Amino acid sequence: MNILLVGSGGREHALAWKIAQSPLTRRLVIAPGNPGMDRLGERRDVSVTNADAMAALAREIRADLVVVGPETALEAGLADRLIAAGIPCFGPTARAAQLETSKAFSKAFMERHEIPTAGFGVYERLHEARQALLVFKPPYVIKADGLAAGKGVAISPTKRDAEREIEWMLGGRFGQAGARVVIEEFMAGEEGSLFALCDGRRAILLGGAQDHKRAYDGDLGPNTGGMGSYSPAPVFTRELVEAAERDIVQPVIAGMAREGMPYRGVLYAGLMATDEGPKVVEFNARFGDPECQVLMMRLDGDIVPILLACARGDLTRVAPPQFLPETVICIVMAAQGYPDCPVEGSIIRGAERDFGPHVQVFHAGTRRQPDGQLVAVGGRVLNICARGKDIAEARDRAYAAIRKIDWPGGFFRADIGWRALEREAGA
Ligand code: AMP
Ligand code: GLY
Repeated sequence: MNILLVGSGGREHALAWKIAQSPLTRRLVIAPGNPGMDRLGERRDVSVTNADAMAALAREIRADLVVVGPETALEAGLADRLIAAGIPCFGPTARAAQLETSKAFSKAFMERHEIPTAGFGVYERLHEARQALLVFKPPYVIKADGLAAGKGVAISPTKRDAEREIEWMLGGRFGQAGARVVIEEFMAGEEGSLFALCDGRRAILLGGAQDHKRAYDGDLGPNTGGMGSYSPAPVFTRELVEAAERDIVQPVIAGMAREGMPYRGVLYAGLMATDEGPKVVEFNARFGDPECQVLMMRLDGDIVPILLACARGDLTRVAPPQFLPETVICIVMAAQGYPDCPVEGSIIRGAERDFGPHVQVFHAGTRRQPDGQLVAVGGRVLNICARGKDIAEARDRAYAAIRKIDWPGGFFRADIGWRALEREAGA
């Protein structure tokens, strides 16, 4: 098969690594990719948000399957173009991707289908939003409606603080994405991400993971796209997963189909394990980054038949995904200054050595200079992933690999997996 993979981060490097292992893959083209993927496929310099150019590339290489990594490509309508061209696409249409790209859409959808989530209101006018704050209790959860690169959510301890956030959002801090704000009830509990593969009518679970969103140790500092992850995540007990599949995943897929927006691709449900069972924090229309990296390393067997079956709309004939009985951890190495103003251009040494059979290093934001040196570009730069019989072994292997990487321009969290480690130690 000829496969086109869209994206350039650590998530896509992990997908490329897994797809390249498939005996079904004859040609893998990655657009635009990153230098870590050079040995896995051919890279083509096409912007992920240029749906016309990307669809033209898919036609040019006679793609049998297109796998879309980032949500921005979905929002730009890439799946719609590919479907129109008769090319199977793993990733939902722009309308179906609204589960992620519009929080107002996603909350209203959940309300229509009685999917458990925090109570909410959607506001376009400042005075209405201010008025609404009177009925919500602190802490106040304030969200920009549209895509804001993970920065569009504020949890405000006081009404004054919440008002300021709302003023900023409605005042254009996130452009059109903040033209509407969502105010939500605060949910207490532990968070986890559950992934399901969907063919438009059916969904099969791909398991769960947990990530660390804050930049610094102790879950402190600014929110980021994710500083580390691990899978399996102990928060996902069998009861929680069963409840989430029954009350969240299946009703979403059925509801989207009934409303004429069949959902194909991966559904990422950000869940809160509350006293009343799992509730939805948010949906994403793509794999999590860095959750994808640990899922790909745990997945046993060929991923390509499953991705193709989702894209073609028939999951009934593929074997359900199997996982290795191991724990995988991913530590993100980010450029100093991330997330606010990451410093670009610092030299990285030692990231491309062979770290042995238990470790994989995925690139997220690197560039190769003409002299062959690797330099950092962007915020999250490297993903150091390791497997082990338990979280402690996986963690030790990952941090041992990090010690061999010489990159003074980078930083990482030293406590990835602490919740799972505490549980393991207590068990
Ligand atoms: P989101 O982008 O919607 O996932 O929100 C970012 C983060 O804010 C989540 O990962 C949660 O930690 C937190 N969060 C969002 N909504 C809520 C809520 N209703 N209650 C508690 N925490 C929330
Ligand atoms: N790691 C969180 C995300 O991909 O949205």
